[in-house]
Amino acid sequence: MGDVQRINTGVEGLDDLLYGGVPELNQVVVAGGPGSGKTLLSMEILYHAAKRGIPAAFIALEEDPRTVVKNFKSAFPSFSDVDDLINNGTLVVGGEDAAMRIQSTSDSESYSFGNIVSDIETIVGTNNAKLVAIDSVSLIKLMISDNLTYRKSMLALTSNLRRLGVTGIMTAEMPSSERKDLKFSQEFFIFDGILAMYQMGEADKRTLGMEIVKMRGSNHSWSLVPYEITSGGFKVYSIQ
Ligand SMILES: Nc1ncnc2c1ncn2[C@@H]1O[C@H](COP(=O)(O)OP(=O)(O)OP(=O)(O)O)[C@@H](O)[C@H]1O
Ligand SMILES: [Mg+2]
Repeated sequence: MGDVQRINTGVEGLDDLLYGGVPELNQVVVAGGPGSGKTLLSMEILYHAAKRGIPAAFIALEEDPRTVVKNFKSAFPSFSDVDDLINNGTLVVGGEDAAMRIQSTSDSESYSFGNIVSDIETIVGTNNAKLVAIDSVSLIKLMISDNLTYRKSMLALTSNLRRLGVTGIMTAEMPSSERKDLKFSQEFFIFDGILAMYQMGEADKRTLGMEIVKMRGSNHSWSLVPYEITSGGFKVYSIQ
């Protein structure tokens, strides 16, 4: 079991939580409430991978890709060389067309899930990305009214990414930021891994916490650990 190939997240403390990194080809959902840091965390993982020369693609479906990069640089001044990685093509941040087409149609027929998949595949093909983030799959769910179709579609998307040799990170919105309310809807079961992010504590002393709920093909820490979003990136306090 020790010979599983992994992609390091490069995020301080997170690889310890994952016993080394995300097993290659796993499709992992990063789930959390609003503002828990899903977008920044997935972008940071791609940033570190791209710095190590792994081609990566971030597909922004909820925000303008330029806004994602702008927020990333303002949150993490020490990662401002992200522009170099974008300019040399190691990191692609796209998704604008897909996002606009999703938003401009109420009729799921006119911009179908098939279009999204092919848009995603086009972006992935730009630099033959090996690591891809999709932010978020909750938006895709809005397009597809019935649950069974959504599950089948996500299954198709994740198996397509695997076929392309891609390790995936998909962000997903959770209706609540609290751990006690954690309820995974059925579609979460198709993913290979789940990383959940919570807000904890009292209203006047909020803290953030994360845990690996599952990770196929790997053992991992079972602890719920605190994390912080600092100007030097995420800090995950995995050593207790
Ligand atoms: N410039 C910054 N400096 C410090 N912290 C920041 C900065 N920008 C954002 N943050 C922190 O990051 C959080 C937002 O991160 P992010 O956008 O990744 O969250 P999210 O989970 O993707 O949110 P949403 O559900 O709205 O998409 C903010 O709530 C804030 O705590
Ligand atoms: Mg976000």
